[in-house]
Amino acid sequence: MSVTVLVGGQWGDEGKGKIVDILSENYDIVTRYQGGANAGHTVEIGNSKYILHLIPSGILREGVVCIIGNGVVIDPTALLDEIALLEKNNINVDGRLFISHNAHLIMPYHKLLDSIQESGDNKIGTTGRGIGPCYIDKYARKGIKIVDLLNRKTLEEKIRKNLEEKNNLLKKVYEKEELNVEEIIHQYLEFDKKIDKYIKDIPAYLNNAIAQGKSILLEGAQGALLDVDHGTYPFVTSSSPTSGGACTGTGIPPNKIDNVLGIVKAYTTRVGYGPFPTELLDDDGNKLRKIGVEYGATTGRPRRCGWFDAFLVNYSVMINGIEEVAITKLDVLSDFSEIKVCTGYKLNGNILKSFPTDFERLQTVTPVYETLKGWNKDISNCRAFADLPSQTKEYLDFISKEAGMKIKIVSVGPKRDQTFFTN
Ligand code: GDP
Ligand code: IMO
Ligand code: MG
Repeated sequence: MSVTVLVGGQWGDEGKGKIVDILSENYDIVTRYQGGANAGHTVEIGNSKYILHLIPSGILREGVVCIIGNGVVIDPTALLDEIALLEKNNINVDGRLFISHNAHLIMPYHKLLDSIQESGDNKIGTTGRGIGPCYIDKYARKGIKIVDLLNRKTLEEKIRKNLEEKNNLLKKVYEKEELNVEEIIHQYLEFDKKIDKYIKDIPAYLNNAIAQGKSILLEGAQGALLDVDHGTYPFVTSSSPTSGGACTGTGIPPNKIDNVLGIVKAYTTRVGYGPFPTELLDDDGNKLRKIGVEYGATTGRPRRCGWFDAFLVNYSVMINGIEEVAITKLDVLSDFSEIKVCTGYKLNGNILKSFPTDFERLQTVTPVYETLKGWNKDISNCRAFADLPSQTKEYLDFISKEAGMKIKIVSVGPKRDQTFFTN
């Protein structure tokens, strides 16, 4: 029985959804701890493909309890759409989906402000889901929380107060139309009727579950390099995807966490703007995108692709406390006769000792590459580590040593059976 944090080791989209689905068979509870509907976690089961944005990927395993922690920002529309989609597929969430009363709500003005800010000069390339503006209000202590839905008077007062400020901003600064306060109040009161049954005191629930010996998988969204503190700021998301965020985002104390599993793609991708030292803007990059079907699960945007960056993953291993990882999408590299791995960065002719997260340096570093032999063989049918070609094993051995991580799980395709443990 254990409490495990599962964290994206790069810039998101590492295949967290798939691995959560695999592992959740052996966990009692799966909990999301940060982010919101900016996430898109894909799980393929047979011929069905599910893309989960807010509800933990464990929901596809019967009997697993799924929790949305206080660190998550909840868009009512996205949540209700997701519940409806699952129910349409005969997956009932009642009695096994719970939401923290301390989670913050994404309001219509958050999404609007997100899109207005993205149309200006300081583009981040956000998903447009209102994430940044919602966390801004949370930290400015103006946010509206799930618990506010339980008291009609408080909810109305808070919405009116916020709307007064936001409408001023929309009208005077951005020259946009004002939002209708009565409509928003009505919309959120209706939302309350539908989600009331899911609201719970999550810290109490989770700590009680731990005391009873239950196992919990904490599902991170995004990835370490998108972390607001440790990522490639300002080109990051507005939450803490790193393992530390799992404690603040759920109410589980650090001394109850048993292990941290990193999810790491066999190459690198990133969506949106920001520095990306190993990015390939050539045929190899296009090939990775094509074979890896690298298009955003939430926005459909083409993902930027590049070689595996062991220097970056080594940094991620350090800040997350990752000991073991799942390597995903290894099959995507099968068609390359040579594969490069970045082992460090050079800046002004000097090899850097530690990973630079600041924009100026990261934008100007030159990656140092080691070239490895490809295996030029389809590995998507491999079902055990022993089935892998020797060059594939050499690649895994090389990246694991360079990044300082132990490979525990290997994924060679999007399906459940295209996964195996290394021992
Ligand atoms: P997440 O956000 O980390 O859950 O990842 P996404 O779902 O956004 O993106 C991962 C994509 O890769 C999804 O389409 C998965 O179905 C797919 N995928 C996951 N693991 C593998 C794998 O090992 N090989 C291949 N070819 N696809 C995979
Ligand atoms: P999952 O959980 C990849 C990126 C956006 C943008 C930046 C800020 O599926 O791995 P935001 O909307 O959060 O304010 O956007 O973060 N981003 C992601 N990139 N995977 C994700 O989630 C992402 N969620 C946000 O593209 O660059
Ligand atoms: Mg994704």
